[in-house]
Amino acid sequence: MNSSVSPKPLPQVETPLLAVALATGGDVPASLAELDKTVGGLLARALASGDFKGKRDETLLLYPPSGKAQRVLLVGVGKATEVTHNALRRAAAVAGKRARTLSATTFAFTVAAEARNGVPARDLGQALAEGASHGAWSFTEFKQASNDEPRREVEAVELIVDPKDAKDAETGRQLGAAVAAGARLARTLQMEPGNVCTPRYLADRAVQLGKTYGFNVTVLDLAAIKKEGMGALLAVAQGSEQEPRFIALEYTGAGDAAPLALLGKGVTFDSGGISIKPAQSMEDMKYDMSGAAAVLGTFEVLGRLKPKLNVIGLIPSTENLPSGTAVKPGDVVKSHLGKTIEIVNTDAEGRLILCDALSYARRYKPAAALDAATLTGAVSIALGSQAIGLMGNDDALIAEVREAGERAGERCWPLPLWEEYRDLVKSEIADVKNSGGRGAGTIAGGWFLREFVEGYPWVHLDIAGTAYTEGEGPHQVKGPTAIGVRLFTEFLLRRARA
Ligand code: BES
Ligand code: MN
Ligand code: ZN
Repeated sequence: MNSSVSPKPLPQVETPLLAVALATGGDVPASLAELDKTVGGLLARALASGDFKGKRDETLLLYPPSGKAQRVLLVGVGKATEVTHNALRRAAAVAGKRARTLSATTFAFTVAAEARNGVPARDLGQALAEGASHGAWSFTEFKQASNDEPRREVEAVELIVDPKDAKDAETGRQLGAAVAAGARLARTLQMEPGNVCTPRYLADRAVQLGKTYGFNVTVLDLAAIKKEGMGALLAVAQGSEQEPRFIALEYTGAGDAAPLALLGKGVTFDSGGISIKPAQSMEDMKYDMSGAAAVLGTFEVLGRLKPKLNVIGLIPSTENLPSGTAVKPGDVVKSHLGKTIEIVNTDAEGRLILCDALSYARRYKPAAALDAATLTGAVSIALGSQAIGLMGNDDALIAEVREAGERAGERCWPLPLWEEYRDLVKSEIADVKNSGGRGAGTIAGGWFLREFVEGYPWVHLDIAGTAYTEGEGPHQVKGPTAIGVRLFTEFLLRRARA
C-alpha cells in the first residue's frame, strides 16, 4: 500500500473516505471548524447527538451533503491526555480496515490537533503509515472473486498534516512504509498454509530476499544439517516427508562490528508429532513459523532502510508430524552443542529446533541475540493476547527489548528464569529434558533454551499468544499479526543510532 503526506487544509481533501481521529470530549474541536463548515455542520450535529463519544476504536461513518470528501469517518482515540503514537497507529488501522470493507481504494487520514497529545510529527507519520497498512491488510490469494465479498485492495493512504509538520511526518512515513512492507511479508508467510509454506519454501523466500537486497543467504539442506550435527532439529524433522532447512541471513551495514542475531522458530506445521495435538484448531498450527516470519519481515525492513549495523537471521525450519520414522517420547538425542536431550514430549519441538540455532549462533560472536517463537500455549494462559512473554540471561538487554516493545506497540512482560526453575528441565537419563510438565510451562521453555546459550546476552520472546488472533478485531482481520517485525525493527534502529 502506498502512503503519502499532504499538508492540505481538510476542506480541500478530495477522497472517497476522510478519516478523522478524535479524542473524547464533546464539541467540534477548533482544528475541525473549517471542515465542519464545508460539510454543513454535519460534525457538530453528529457530536451533539452523542452517537460518537471518541472512545478507543469507536467509529461513526457520515455522508456529507457537501464538500470534497464522499464520506467522513470519525475514529475515536480515547482521552486526549492519554494519547500516544501507539493509539494513533491503532486509529489509523481502524480506518484502514473500514476503508477496505467500504471498498475504497484510497483514503485520507488525519488526527485532530486536539487529539495528538504532543506526539512528534515523525512518530505521527510513522505510526500512521504502519497502522493504515495494518488495518487494510487482507489475504485473498486463494479466493476466487465474488460479488458479496469486496476484493478491492486499498491502494493508497494520504496522511493529512499541518504544513509545519510535513517534513518530519514524511521522514516518519518513509520509516513506517518500510516497516509496513516487512509486516506484510511476515503476515503473508504466516497466512500461507502448511502445504504451501514448507521449510523449502521459507528458504526460497529468504534466498529471494537476499537477491533483492544483496544479503548473504546460506541454506543448509538435510545433508548439511546432518553434517553440522544438529541432532535436535533432525529429531523433529525425521517424522516428515518434507526436508528441513536451516536458513542463515547476513545483513552487513557496519563493516566488521559484532552483529545482532535474530532467531525465529520456523515450524511450518505443528501437529504435535507422536504426542499429537487435539483436532480442535489444529489448522492454526500453520502459524507455528511466526517467529521465522518476523525475522524475514525484519530483513525486508533492513533491506529497505539499510541502517548502519550488522544483523544475522537464523531460522531452523521443519514440520512436526507423526509417522513410522517420527521421534518418540523417551528418545534421547544429541544437540548441536553436544548436550543430550530426553524428548519426553514430541510437541515441545520448538525448543528443540531453536536450541541448535542458539548454539550455531556462537560462531558469529553476536553482541546480542533475540529469538521469537510460538513456543508455549501456556503464555496465553499467563498473558492472553496482549503481551509477549519475555525471558533472558541479561537484565540490561531485557530492559532494552522491553523498551523497544513499548515503542513498537508490541509489548513484552517478563517472566523469571530463577535458578530454582532449572529443575523443570532436569532429566534422569540425559543432560536435559524438553518438557517440565504442567506448571510454569513458558518458563520451562525459556530455561530449556537458556541451557544452550553460551557466550552472548540473549532474550527469548514467546509469541504464541500474540502471533495470530482467533477472532476479528476493530483494527485488523482475524489471523496473523506480524508480531515481532516492529519490535525487532525498533530494537535494531535504536542500536544503529547508539
Ligand atoms: N506450537 C506450540 C505452542 C502453541 C500453542 C502455539 C498454541 C500457538 C498456540 C508448541 O510447539 C507446543 O506444542 N508447546 C507445548 C509445550 C508442552 C508440550 C511442554 C504446549 O504449549 O502445549
Ligand atoms: Mn508443539
Ligand atoms: Zn510448535
